[in-house]
Amino acid sequence: MNSTTEERTLPSAAQAEADELLAEFPNKKSALLMILRIVEREFGMIDDGGLALAAKLCEVSPAHVLGMASFYTHFKRPWHGKHRLMVCATLMCALGGTKQALEQIHRTLGLRPGEITHDGVFSLEKVECLADCDRPPAMQVNFKHHVKMHGEALDRLLAELLATEKKTPADYENQTPIKMNAAIPIVSVKQDM
Ligand code: FES
Repeated sequence: MNSTTEERTLPSAAQAEADELLAEFPNKKSALLMILRIVEREFGMIDDGGLALAAKLCEVSPAHVLGMASFYTHFKRPWHGKHRLMVCATLMCALGGTKQALEQIHRTLGLRPGEITHDGVFSLEKVECLADCDRPPAMQVNFKHHVKMHGEALDRLLAELLATEKKTPADYENQTPIKMNAAIPIVSVKQDM
């Protein structure tokens, strides 16, 4: 695991894109969300170095950027796994199998919501309504939408994810996951977006 405070500099094409964007606003602060998206895209996530870079570009304090990046939970942060599993836990999905889906994920990856695997490859979150209430339980993996995620369909999805990483459930047996709220930066795994 490495530090996430590394100083960040945008590649020249991305810097030109950011400059063009910033020039459109009389107040650079107004471009912050879009600048964060550029930072996330270029570095695969928004770490402390990315927060500092966005603050510098938009001429705001790092605390202001942190507030924005924490409020919008869709931003990828260092403590999210390379594969970010988000399971809907709002009423219709809760009635339609969220608990069973979470148990299935736990059996395969050893994860409970709010945890990340020891190797940083998978993380699991319970989220609010994903707008597919009539096909529960809904979930997203790296923001790709999946519905009716129970039984064989969920097993298949998990098997595909494991195969992508050349892993098996055995890799996660008897391993202690890391709590996301421990805010441990995990950047040793390449964060493909
Ligand atoms: S309640 Fe789960 S998608 Fe709406």
